[in-house]
Amino acid sequence: MAELIAADKALEAALTLLRAGEVVAIPTETVYGLAGDATNGEAVARIFEAKGRPRFNPLIAHVADMAMAERIGVFDPLSRKLAEKFWPGPLTLVVPLRAGSGIHPLVTAGLETIALRMPKGFGGTLIARLGRPLAAPSANSSGKISSTSGEAVASDLGARIPLVVDGGATPVGLESTIVKVEDGRARLLRPGGVPAGEIEQVAGAPLLRGMTAGIEAPGMLASHYAPGAAMRLNADSVGEGEALLGFGPYRADGWQQARAFLNLSEAGDLREAATNLFAHLQALDRSGAELIAVEPIPFDELGEAINDRLARAAAPRDNPHV
Ligand code: TXA
Ligand code: MG
Repeated sequence: MAELIAADKALEAALTLLRAGEVVAIPTETVYGLAGDATNGEAVARIFEAKGRPRFNPLIAHVADMAMAERIGVFDPLSRKLAEKFWPGPLTLVVPLRAGSGIHPLVTAGLETIALRMPKGFGGTLIARLGRPLAAPSANSSGKISSTSGEAVASDLGARIPLVVDGGATPVGLESTIVKVEDGRARLLRPGGVPAGEIEQVAGAPLLRGMTAGIEAPGMLASHYAPGAAMRLNADSVGEGEALLGFGPYRADGWQQARAFLNLSEAGDLREAATNLFAHLQALDRSGAELIAVEPIPFDELGEAINDRLARAAAPRDNPHV
């Protein structure tokens, strides 16, 4: 069973485990990550094993600084500009993998590109001390909701990993935005913690959207982030026995009869809603309701990423990709 150690006391224990090729759950500003040394194949294999994740789904390599990033990936001018503007922070950049980077091929699932991110806080400090990049997917069983607290990680993965570094609730609450620059134009592969509009301002052009050929980001597969309960989005009413996930000051009809009710943000604040999203979904799932009705949430700013995660959580599970 995993030990749970507060972040301000966990640095040495985490370093010892990572140097030994073990995996450690760590807080980042977005969600908790399940981290292992990205240059150590055994460590990376342990990440996939603990998550029950298909091997072809590539991982993000987390770096401490730009020099480390440039040793791993090849940065075009726009990718560098985005890194300078948004790092450390909730943006992941997909760039060509540099020859001799030392990254174990399991991390990229054999792709010629690599997803790179510079996290804030404990993760950044840990990577700088380790002197090596950390591969880290979100710290949850594959296909389940990402964890935004140390306890959530421990209850999901605790039996399969040695250490959870507890940094409290993650400030952003949603995974990073993933962008890939193609011929000087940035493509949005996954909406996330940096709103698309902020990236467009720096890029000076609208983001390209939609996938190119093949699965570019398997996390974009339809059913993902799935709670046990079924989900109904844009609900304007609540049926008996259903749980209700609210947003803003106005309630869906019949909300008083909901089996459980939580509000993402009473004030209608999308940042607050992002922070609460996964924890509220988990809590409503635990209420035992068979269906979670979700009130409409606007698509602007972080609303794009929130609606993206909700749509995946609501997608049919008959062909779940876990
Ligand atoms: O905020 C985050 O991004 C969190 C924290 C822990 O950093 N991490 C996270 O990792 O969400 P994960 O593995 O759950 O999602 C990473 C996504 C996956 O959908 C994966 O397919 C995509 O990144 N990805 C990784 N490498 C890629 C590549 N070379 N090209 C395109 N997509 C890639
Ligand atoms: Mg994930």
